[in-house]
Amino acid sequence: MMAVAAAQKNREMFAIKKSYSIENGYPSRRRSLVDDARFETIVVKQTKQSVLEEARQKANEDESLESCVLQAQGENPSQEKIEFENNENIEIPHDEVEEFEVENLESERNYIEDQQENGSIDDFGLTEDEVVLQNAVSDSPDAENELIRAALVVRLKDGMSSLGRILKAIENYHGIVLHLESRPSQDEGMQHDILIKLDMTRVNILQLIRSLRQSASFAGINLLSEDNISVKAPWFPKHASELDSCNHLMTKYEPELDMNHPGFADKVYRQRRKEIAEIAFGYKFGDPIPRISYTDVENKTWRSVFRTVLDLMPKHACMEYRLVFKKLQDEKIFVEDRIPQLEEMSAFLRRNTGFTLRPAAGLLTARDFLASLAFRIFQSTQYVRHVNSPYHTPEPDCIHELLGHMPLLADPSFAQFSQEIGLASLGASDEEIEKLSTVYWFTVEFGLCKEQGKIKAYGAGLLSSYGELLHAISEKPEHRAFEPASTAVQPYQDQNYQPIYYVAESFEDAKEKFRRWVSTMSRPFEVRFNPHTERVEVLDSIDKLESVITQLNTEILHLNNAVQKLKRPF
Ligand SMILES: [Fe+2]
Repeated sequence: MMAVAAAQKNREMFAIKKSYSIENGYPSRRRSLVDDARFETIVVKQTKQSVLEEARQKANEDESLESCVLQAQGENPSQEKIEFENNENIEIPHDEVEEFEVENLESERNYIEDQQENGSIDDFGLTEDEVVLQNAVSDSPDAENELIRAALVVRLKDGMSSLGRILKAIENYHGIVLHLESRPSQDEGMQHDILIKLDMTRVNILQLIRSLRQSASFAGINLLSEDNISVKAPWFPKHASELDSCNHLMTKYEPELDMNHPGFADKVYRQRRKEIAEIAFGYKFGDPIPRISYTDVENKTWRSVFRTVLDLMPKHACMEYRLVFKKLQDEKIFVEDRIPQLEEMSAFLRRNTGFTLRPAAGLLTARDFLASLAFRIFQSTQYVRHVNSPYHTPEPDCIHELLGHMPLLADPSFAQFSQEIGLASLGASDEEIEKLSTVYWFTVEFGLCKEQGKIKAYGAGLLSSYGELLHAISEKPEHRAFEPASTAVQPYQDQNYQPIYYVAESFEDAKEKFRRWVSTMSRPFEVRFNPHTERVEVLDSIDKLESVITQLNTEILHLNNAVQKLKRPF
């Protein structure tokens, strides 16, 4: 629990505090997860940098870092000079500590600025864990000298001969090496990647990193999480209840900010949207989803869209959508006179695929939204679009969620595909979240598929917007075969209908291709959802893998028994 609390505190430090709106320079015609992912990437980087700057400033002001380094050096005079071969000495004379600090800060800042300028920021110069460590060091004198367990990845340019220098440096900073691992580096110009797990005080870890960065023999010196050293990843929810912390909004009170929103000039509408959003803000895991008494006007808006979908669906929607739609009508959840309640829809999904809903106050950050899919939870808005614009909404509303998304979330194959996008997003880098959002955009929102030689729609954005649906299946746009690697980097159109749509052979085929593509992503571990505990397990140890294999063996045994029983003669 302590680790979860600490991780959540760290997450708060980097939380999105800016609203995604035209005021922040995003005048998109409609809001989407892809734009959110891009915006999130920028904001997270800005926030990380400002938190680090603040931590450094604080450290310089109270000189705690400096005094601690001096103290550490005083205990062991040999530490004053860390000798590296090839004229790469790292000297830290007492009277030059301050200069050393400044130079290092300067070189780190230059590194970050260079990366920002060429648009290829990576986290090697500024990892979240380093920021957290910096903050901990400057926040409390006790925390500086506390021994913690950490992991470092160092890339060696000159081969294994330079490993000795790293070990010498660790020794000089009073570190205890617990584990050492090497592998050939996949990066150009690098020979080996070294993973070192160690125990060391916080302040000395920071000094060690700075020392190693002084040497031309090393690159990509990267600190991994101190809470979970076996995993190179930022915090992400491990249990469905932790989604209570994954509700960062991009579009808070959007109608009040966006002059193009149909509700911008309607005070009553804005107030109503705000009231419904408040319900989502107060929602906690395990609560029943509060009922909304939809007004006659809201039900009328639903009816208009519902009738349109009824008209278009038989000819243009994929078979899986049509089948579940019929089931929803049979169970009187889809009727034209009233908007279904999220709670009854959630119960329907649970019966069919184990998916459930939780209310969202607006468009969530891409990372938060995708994370919930990993737990088979769909975060759904509950407010209704403006009555004057029943066929277009610049942001998701419950009509889009209910008519667009729900039928397919009750289809087992599609539900699995959605969950796999979510699982792939856990611990992914910001750049990969952007790619996953783009795949989500061109599949779950605007996907087409083949059905007996004809093109049908399965994307929620198409099935809840007849204008774009008719455009998508016409001859006007380009239809391309779904290939995750190319789909993930396809620029997306937000000012008008898409010029390109991706066509899947089938959901099974899309899943298979997606799995292959995800396996090429940078995340160095696999995750697995355990439906019994509603927990995501990180498969990073032999014990965990053996436990999963035992479970799978039991299931295979039962399946084999079932096959044998069916084969028996009457
Ligand atoms: Fe959607």
